[in-house]
Amino acid sequence: MSLYLIIMGVQGAGKGTQAAFVSDKFGIPHVSTGDLFRAMKSRTDELAQRVQQIMESGQLVPDEVTNEVLQDRLEQDDAAGGVILDGYPRNIAQAEWLEQYLKSRGEKLTGVLLLDLDFYTAFKRAFGRVKSSSGKTYNFYFNGDIIDMSFEEHPEGKYPPRIKAVLKETGEVLERRADDEAAAVVKRIDIFQETTQPLIEHYRKQGLLVEIDAAQSIQAVSAAIETAIANATA
Ligand code: AP5
Ligand code: MG
Repeated sequence: MSLYLIIMGVQGAGKGTQAAFVSDKFGIPHVSTGDLFRAMKSRTDELAQRVQQIMESGQLVPDEVTNEVLQDRLEQDDAAGGVILDGYPRNIAQAEWLEQYLKSRGEKLTGVLLLDLDFYTAFKRAFGRVKSSSGKTYNFYFNGDIIDMSFEEHPEGKYPPRIKAVLKETGEVLERRADDEAAAVVKRIDIFQETTQPLIEHYRKQGLLVEIDAAQSIQAVSAAIETAIANATA
C-alpha cells in the first residue's frame, strides 16, 4: 500500500527534522519543496535565480513553478510507493492540485501530521539554526555551551549587523540559511498564518489531520508521529 503523508507546521516546527525520521522509519523519500528549490541554487538560468530571490525574502514561490517541481520529483522511481511531503502544500490551491494529481494516479493521501508550536519558539528555532560543513544542525539559543555567537558589522555600515556563529571546539564558522534572517523568518511566519493555516481546517474536515505537540523533545515528537502513522494505516 502506498503511503502519502504530509507534515505541516509553522517555520521551525521541526518538519525537516521529523520528515527525515519518517523517511528512515517507513522507507519512503522525504520530499521537501524548500530543499528542491535550494538545490536549484547552483543553476544560472533566470527561473532558478528568481526562485532564490523569492526564498531569501521569505515569500512563496508561484504555484505553477512549485507544482511542476513537485510533480517531477513525485514521478521519480523511488517515489512509486509514496512520500512524506514537507513544506507542500502551503495554500488551498496547492492542496487541490495535489488531490487531483494523486487521484489521476489512482492514489490518495494517507494522513496529515500537524506539528503544533507557538510562534515565539518557532522563531527561535529558525532564527537560531546553524549548520556545520558536515551537515550537522545546531542552534545558538540552545547550544550555547558549544557555540560562540557574535555580531559582525558590515565594513561600510551599509547593512544591519550579521550574526556569526562559531563551533568552539574547531573554530568552524557555521552556516545560516539566507531566509533565517529575522525579517525573512517573521515574513514566513506571517505567510503561514495567512495562507497555510486555512489548510488545517481543510484537512480536519476530511478526517485526515493528526495534531502533534511539537514543543516536546525531538524523540517524543518522533514517537507521537510513529503512533499516528500506525493508526492511519491500521
Ligand atoms: P522550507 O525549506 O520548507 O522552510 P520552512 O517552511 O520555512 O520551514 P523550516 O525549514 O524553516 O522549518 P522546519 O519546520 O523544517 O524545521 P526544522 O526541522 O529545520 O521553505 C523555504 C522557502 O521555500 C519558503 O519560504 C518558500 O519561499 C519556498 N517554498 C517551499 N515550499 C514551497 C511551496 N510549497 N510553495 C511555495 N513556496 C515554497 O527545525 C528547526 C530547528 O529546530 C532545527 O535547528 C532543529 O534541530 C530544531 N528542532 C526541531 N525539532 C525540535 C524539537 N522538538 N526540540 C528542539 N529543537 C528542535
Ligand atoms: Mg525545513
